[in-house]
Amino acid sequence: MKIAITGKGGVGKTTLSGTLAFILSQAYKVFAIDADPDMNLASSMGIHYKITPISKMRDLIKERTGAEPGSAFGEVFKINPNISDLPDSMSVKVKDDDTLKLLVMGTIDKGGDGCICPASVLLKALMRNLILKKDEIVILDMEAGIEHLGRRTAEAVDVMIIVVEPGLKSLETAERIKRLAADIGIRNIAVVINKVSNKAEEEFVTDKLNELGLEVLGSIPRDDNVILADMEGKILLDYPESVALKSIKEIGENLLNYNPRN
Ligand SMILES: Nc1ncnc2c1ncn2[C@@H]1O[C@H](COP(=O)(O)OP(=O)(O)OP(=O)(O)O)[C@@H](O)[C@H]1O
Ligand SMILES: [Mg+2]
Repeated sequence: MKIAITGKGGVGKTTLSGTLAFILSQAYKVFAIDADPDMNLASSMGIHYKITPISKMRDLIKERTGAEPGSAFGEVFKINPNISDLPDSMSVKVKDDDTLKLLVMGTIDKGGDGCICPASVLLKALMRNLILKKDEIVILDMEAGIEHLGRRTAEAVDVMIIVVEPGLKSLETAERIKRLAADIGIRNIAVVINKVSNKAEEEFVTDKLNELGLEVLGSIPRDDNVILADMEGKILLDYPESVALKSIKEIGENLLNYNPRN
């Protein structure tokens, strides 16, 4: 199963991605992919040392594409680099066994419209390999701008989760993402409502989502344990009493039983 998690800044994408990755890795092999420019998925997975993102591995990019990152426009490089070994060799083992690995992609400074730079080609190839070729569950922590998923990769994503919180702003972003997602060929979209404080908030968001024709996969209460985990640099699973954790476990179940409407 390939899951992409997106939504407006600060709604809880990384918390959900990291926690889901841990939960699902109790029964399956999981690749957690940090594809957000902010790159803090590692932190929510309890890893606090610096991980060099693939996009900054100049030697690797040169070796695989045949061109220096940021090299002059027009330089010839391989547009189909061989990267099939990289998901395993470049990922960080989050648990001692092989059940949970983290890959930090990083982002590419775009050198103008339509620039196909070597780093971008490498990252896209890597993303394609993970989504199309891997048997593992893949969880992508992404920014709201999802355009950098190529069409063939997007079509192979089983479900894109848009995280929203009570309020119109993240719902407006959700609407925009829904349109973008359809444009690039994402087949299934479901929403997770995060930071819910009471029934009224949940109903407010649910009504709006109905109007937008967006299906709800689950909701997560506002929970101080999430903040505590962040302050203590721990994972949410270290707080068994956390109500947010309980909800994310349910969302994990819902995902495994997920049957798209179309
Ligand atoms: N259910 C929750 N209850 C309380 N606080 C939460 C909850 N979910 C997330 N938070 C807090 O909200 C903040 C943003 O969460 P997170 O980093 O997961 O969001 P994000 O969407 O990945 O943000 P960004 O867009 O910056 O990558 C964090 O400080 C986190 O601790
Ligand atoms: Mg994040």
